[in-house]
Amino acid sequence: MSKSLFRVKPVEPAPHVDAGEPVEGSLQGETTLKRTLTARHLVLLGIGAVIGAGIFVLTGQAAANHAGPAIMLSFVLAGTACALAGLCYAEFAAMMPVSGSAYSYSYATLGEFVAWFIGWCLVLEYLFASSTVAVGWSGYLISFVTGTLGLPFPAQLTTAPIDWNGTAFVSTGHLFNLPAVLIVAAVSGLCYVGITQSAIANSIIVAIKVTVIALFIGFGAMYIDPANWTPFIPEAQGPGKFGFDGVTRAAAIVFFAYIGFDAVSTAAGEAKNPQRDMPIGILGSLAVCTIIYIVVCAVLTGMTHYSLLGTAKPVATALEPYPGLAWLKTAVEIGAIAGLSSVILVMLMAQPRIFYSMSRDGLLPKLFGKVHPKYQTPYVGTIIVGVVACVLAGFMPLNVLGELVSMGTLLAFATVCAGVLVLRRTRPELPRPFRVPFAGVICPLGVVACLYLFWQPFTEHWKLLVGWTALGLVIYFAYGYRNSRLNTP
Ligand code: ALA
Repeated sequence: MSKSLFRVKPVEPAPHVDAGEPVEGSLQGETTLKRTLTARHLVLLGIGAVIGAGIFVLTGQAAANHAGPAIMLSFVLAGTACALAGLCYAEFAAMMPVSGSAYSYSYATLGEFVAWFIGWCLVLEYLFASSTVAVGWSGYLISFVTGTLGLPFPAQLTTAPIDWNGTAFVSTGHLFNLPAVLIVAAVSGLCYVGITQSAIANSIIVAIKVTVIALFIGFGAMYIDPANWTPFIPEAQGPGKFGFDGVTRAAAIVFFAYIGFDAVSTAAGEAKNPQRDMPIGILGSLAVCTIIYIVVCAVLTGMTHYSLLGTAKPVATALEPYPGLAWLKTAVEIGAIAGLSSVILVMLMAQPRIFYSMSRDGLLPKLFGKVHPKYQTPYVGTIIVGVVACVLAGFMPLNVLGELVSMGTLLAFATVCAGVLVLRRTRPELPRPFRVPFAGVICPLGVVACLYLFWQPFTEHWKLLVGWTALGLVIYFAYGYRNSRLNTP
């Protein structure tokens, strides 16, 4: 049995692919995904997935409670871990342009059991993150409608009917979170009808959010008071509270802001020229987002003292003391609503593509591998993911899950870093259109950096991860282990 748990899926050198050529092979008589995405689409998908709740929501708490102005340094630390992982993703995505991302890379290197576990972790990253961000989106929208526009909104439809108070589930007295359900349903509909349509919608949304962020940086910079940046690292006040320990704690929190650049790799099966464009998409979007984050944090903590930023809308909060910038505050709210919707879009696009790959390997039922004859999207998976995400976003208390999303993602990143080294040893001859430079140093550093960031939330929330893993194991042994395609020689 242990032998079959660690069986690896053989990797074939990927032929050069152009538009319209499938590389994953189709299930009998079925259509495969459509190759239409260019390098520009891929960079925009990355930016679409990355810039969202992390910067628009989490930064304020992280600065106010953990890092102070050194939140910039926290973003550099988290960005460095992601850059190391991003290089490894780029090597794999160019070499194996399939839609399974970290799941497929693990299957080719560390074996089926690890691959299943990582695929299961990716459900946390994409499905749970999309629902969590949908709840954040709903919060921004309701506050925009009731606050900025001064319109009424029925309180019954603003939150899930149950909440988790730390020890038990309690009733909120509300029905469900209507805006969160509506955004997930609308975005799922878009994912259903086509990758091109989704990519175009994403490009428009990204243009809006990046414009708003550029306006914030441009106008906000005029109001910076350098005195707000000193002391850069406030004096330590206990574990994780300021000092260097606080900076690393904040790095683990704002890591959430980087989640999503890897979602670009799930579109590898639909890229026109994946060998060239995957590294551009993954590393390009990561570089742009890292620069944007650090500059936004500099302006944020320069305009307003960090101690005042601990709100759910820190970017808007930083503008409050400046009446002349009231218009910008409204623009920031619109930018955040747009920004969060593209995160939901790319996450909901990514999840069915992971399931698609898992189904083709026999680890999930065949229906997840069904491709729509007209739209050429994994439509059954898209519907299932959309319905589950609607239920989670509308009816479940998701506040406990934020750290679980980061933990699952960090495990996937660490595995991909290790996988690059493994495949360099086991299959050195495979053509690698992009190679991680100094892999002997970069890959182990990537593993260590990701596990370091993983460890901080794990010590607090390990029970959640253990529970999630146990559920995954039950499904694997009940279905995937028996139905794996590797069972048939
Ligand atoms: N990086 C994404 C966000 O910050 C998940 O919303």
